[in-house]
Amino acid sequence: MSEPNSSLTSNQLPAAGGDPGSLRSQALGDRAAPASTEPILFTRALTRHFGGLVAVSDVSLTLHVGEIHVVIGPNGAGKSTLTNLLSGDLPPTSGEVMFEGRNIAGCASDEISRRGIGRSYQKTNIFLPFTVFENCRLAAQSRRPHALRIFHRAERYTEINRKAEAAMAAAGLGHRADRVAATLSHGEQRQLEIAMCLATEPRVLLFDEPLAGMGPHESQRMVELIQQLSANHAIMLIEHDMDAVFALAHRLTVMVNGEVLESGTPEEVRSSPAVQLAYLGGEELLHE
Ligand SMILES: Nc1ncnc2c1ncn2[C@@H]1O[C@H](COP(=O)(O)OP(=O)(O)O)[C@@H](O)[C@H]1O
Ligand SMILES: [Mg+2]
Repeated sequence: MSEPNSSLTSNQLPAAGGDPGSLRSQALGDRAAPASTEPILFTRALTRHFGGLVAVSDVSLTLHVGEIHVVIGPNGAGKSTLTNLLSGDLPPTSGEVMFEGRNIAGCASDEISRRGIGRSYQKTNIFLPFTVFENCRLAAQSRRPHALRIFHRAERYTEINRKAEAAMAAAGLGHRADRVAATLSHGEQRQLEIAMCLATEPRVLLFDEPLAGMGPHESQRMVELIQQLSANHAIMLIEHDMDAVFALAHRLTVMVNGEVLESGTPEEVRSSPAVQLAYLGGEELLHE
C-alpha cells in the first residue's frame, strides 16, 4: 500500500526542478537519453476481462532498451494486470504482446522468462531460509533449464554460479552473498528479488511497485539501482511515489479504469489537460 501522501490521487505531482538533493533533482542531471529506436517490446490493443470487468482495455505500450517507461494510475487502474499480461502470469483476452519480433501473448510465464522478460512482484517472492547467493543460484538454475542442457555438469555449475554472482553484484548485494535472506532489511529483500530476476539474464524488466514500504534511504538506493539497470535493459516500472516517478521516467503512461488516459514524456503528461482534469480537478499543481 502506498502512503496517502505519495499516491497519484492526492495531488502530489511535483513541479519541475525540485529541492536540491531530492530524488528528482539528483536523477535529472544524469538521466541518459533514450537509447535504441526499435522497440524491444510493444503491445497492440492488449485487453483482459475478468467476467464483466475490463481490467486492461485496448492498451498499446512500447518499451525500448535504455528507457524507463513508468506506468501510473490509481488503485484498480489495471497496472498489475498489465504487468501480468506481459510476464505471462495471465493470458490476455485479446491483443498482442510483440517481443523481439514475435507475438508472445498467452505464452506461459516460464517460457516468457526464458525468452528474456523478468519481473518482480508486488509481494516479495524470495526463499527466506536461504542465503542471498542460494536464492540467486536457484533463480539462475530454475529459469533456464533448456539452455543449460548443453553444458557438462561442472561447466553448468560454474555457469550458474557466474550468473548468480553477476546478478548479486548488479543488484548491489555482492557484500551480502552469505546472509540468510530472512535477516536482510526490507529494502535489501527487494534488491534480492531484483537480483533473482537479473539471474535469468532478462532484456526487459517489469517492476511492480518496487519502492512499496521503503523509507527514504532505501527508496533512494532503489531509484539509483533502477537507473543503473536502465542502461542495458528496457524497464516498465509501476510506481506510486511521484518523486521517484519523475526522477526515473523517460516515458510516462497514465492508466485509468484499464485504459491509457495519456502517454508521453513526463513533461507532456504533466501538462496534459486530461491528466490535470482527472487527477487534479484542474488545479494548478503541475506548473513548471
Ligand atoms: N484475478 C483477478 N480476478 C478478478 N478481478 C481482478 C483480478 N485481478 C485484478 N482484478 C481486478 O482488475 C482491476 C485492476 O486491478 P489491478 O490490475 O490489480 O490494478 P492496479 O494494479 O492498477 O491497482 C481491479 O478492479 C481488480 O479488482
Ligand atoms: Mg497493482
